[in-house]
Amino acid sequence: MDKEHFESVGLIDGLHSTPSRRYLSNKPISDAIIWDIIDAAIRGPSGGNKQSWVWMVIRDKNTKTKIAHWYLENWNKEYGVRREEILSGTDDDALGPKNFLSADHLANHIHDAPVWIIPILRDVAGSQDPRTGSSIYGAVQNLMLAARAYGIGSTLTALHSTNETQIKSLLNLPDDTLTMAIIPLGYPVKGRWSQPKRKPVEEVTYWESWNVKRDRATHKL
Ligand SMILES: Cc1cc2nc3c(=O)[nH]c(=O)nc-3n(C[C@H](O)[C@H](O)[C@H](O)COP(=O)(O)O)c2cc1C
Repeated sequence: MDKEHFESVGLIDGLHSTPSRRYLSNKPISDAIIWDIIDAAIRGPSGGNKQSWVWMVIRDKNTKTKIAHWYLENWNKEYGVRREEILSGTDDDALGPKNFLSADHLANHIHDAPVWIIPILRDVAGSQDPRTGSSIYGAVQNLMLAARAYGIGSTLTALHSTNETQIKSLLNLPDDTLTMAIIPLGYPVKGRWSQPKRKPVEEVTYWESWNVKRDRATHKL
């Protein structure tokens, strides 16, 4: 483990302070840290412990530039076209104006992040199973939390997926694989390790049966 750059964060504190970080510097990230982060990621769960995964590290500028071009195109088609509406609040997209601006920044600068990690699953290319991703996304979250322990920000992104075929060809991926995300990593230049905003836990927790909620303080129904 690269102890020199490691910041000890309690597990629960880390869970509560790892939002998406989209404003990243281009300061290099050492190989030692990349190894540590992936080594923590692969402690995550997979069905039957099959670990049919590969964690591809991308630093190459040409590769990043090509994929970033597709990413930006997809961002513009899906969100950029609604810029004015989202920023003025007339489009009720859950992203909201602040996240729109940070996601827009990332879409225009994703290639500047010094390292991307592309988690890849094997034997799933034609899968219709809606639970396919569960064999890697736990590990992906491990990766982002481990990065945070080194002061490195990340975002789980998927806007590249429209260009899956081209990306597979670019990276020489076998036919049976699927890229499950692109995670740009970098030292944050803006924002804080603040608590991710979510619906209240009481609202999304049901007890024993559908729609049965409890008050958190009193535990009463
Ligand atoms: C399946 C999935 C796809 C996502 N794709 C993108 C993406 O392409 N670009 C991006 O900036 N964020 C992407 N995100 C990040 C979400 O926007 C983010 O998790 C959400 O807004 C909560 O952000 P927070 O943890 O900072 O509060 C994706 C997240 C998931 C789970």
